[in-house]
Amino acid sequence: MSILVTGGAGFIGGNFVLDWLGVFDELVITLDKLTYAGNCETLVSLAEDERHIFIQGDIGDAECISQLLARYRPRAIVHFAAESHVDRSIHDPEAFIQTNIVGTFCLLEAARTFWNSLEGEAKADFRFLHVSTDEVYGSLAKGAAAFTENNRYEPNSPYSASKAASDHIVRACHHTYGLPVLTTNCSNNYGPYQFPEKLIPLTIVNALAGRPLPVYGDGQQIRDWLYVKDHCSAIRRVLEAGRVGEVYNIGGWNEKPNIDIVHAVCDILDELRARADGVSYREQITFVTDRPGHDRRYAIDARKIARELGWKPAETIANGIRKTVQWYLDNPQWIANVQSGAYREWVEKNYSDRAEKPAV
Ligand code: NAD
Ligand code: DAU
Repeated sequence: MSILVTGGAGFIGGNFVLDWLGVFDELVITLDKLTYAGNCETLVSLAEDERHIFIQGDIGDAECISQLLARYRPRAIVHFAAESHVDRSIHDPEAFIQTNIVGTFCLLEAARTFWNSLEGEAKADFRFLHVSTDEVYGSLAKGAAAFTENNRYEPNSPYSASKAASDHIVRACHHTYGLPVLTTNCSNNYGPYQFPEKLIPLTIVNALAGRPLPVYGDGQQIRDWLYVKDHCSAIRRVLEAGRVGEVYNIGGWNEKPNIDIVHAVCDILDELRARADGVSYREQITFVTDRPGHDRRYAIDARKIARELGWKPAETIANGIRKTVQWYLDNPQWIANVQSGAYREWVEKNYSDRAEKPAV
């Protein structure tokens, strides 16, 4: 038995592979293109582990995928691979269309051919689990009900539009061809191994380097934060018991404004690694020009997965952020290795044009 994990060298995929092999003795084949966001070091502890095979490849490479499926005959595909950063999608949307839409389509086509070649139990048990995002539902007004699986799709960024398109293709493959798919739409993840372009790791890395901590707009945008290991356990549960063709929202029941998250990170850093001058890291917070089209609020109603599959997040936000900060303090080499020249170019591109705003 084996599973194929796409994007397994990225943040959530990497955590998922490590988590899976901590629970099951089953071969995991990780397929990852190793874009700027993919990092083999995340999986270094598996280097000698016979239960793990890493393959560098593109989900848009039909031949590569077909060969992989024919050779390893996985019982499931867990599809994380994507371009995932909203700000990058605003600067350069094309890669998002290519990987998230065309790439997912290519992977589905190969999966469909493979699944059609199966018989009996192997065919009945096969699953394609598509990992998607709450951003496909658009932005919520203050006080509006959280997103359920029945919310209408209203994606606002090139990233969320590309994920929405991929969700629709996955749905169509089930509806038209019967491919046994499962889709999960999850809220903002945080935790170990997250690339420092996203809010929490960027804040930690910039704080320690004495750089400004950029907060877009008024910092009152709300996200529903989920510790990545909770996301991994939810995916395991959906794969195990989710009803074929269904969508499951996954969230942390943890709505927080961005500025509160940044304050929490600063306060933990003040405690664990105080600045030499004794001044709080909060002093480095800088309000900057907002993200174009910035969604104001996301919130997930995760009652369906709780009701049907008995899944609930285990981590509190206070403890989860503390563990995350501690992980980054304990892993300076991992951080140093991902901050290549390309990373510095991205920081320059995204932040140099954002005028500093007076504190709000
Ligand atoms: P990430 O950017 O950290 O990792 C993406 C991985 O995919 C990288 O390892 C990259 O090398 C790989 N990849 C990119 N293009 C590829 C291609 N064409 N072929 C093969 N591999 C490719 O992303 P993440 O934050 O780990 O997100 C994983 C998935 O979860 C994505 O589908 C994302 O939309 C979804 N998601 C993320 C969050 C979040 O908060 N990070 C929340 C909900 C859903
Ligand atoms: O909601 C799920 C989504 O969460 C995933 O689908 C995406 O892949 C993932 O990147 C994440 O998207 P966000 O845009 O919400 O995450 P990000 O960490 O980029 O930003 C979180 C919030 O913080 C958002 O409101 C923008 C703000 N922000 C972000 C950065 C990078 C800042 O204020 N300053 C920053 O420098």
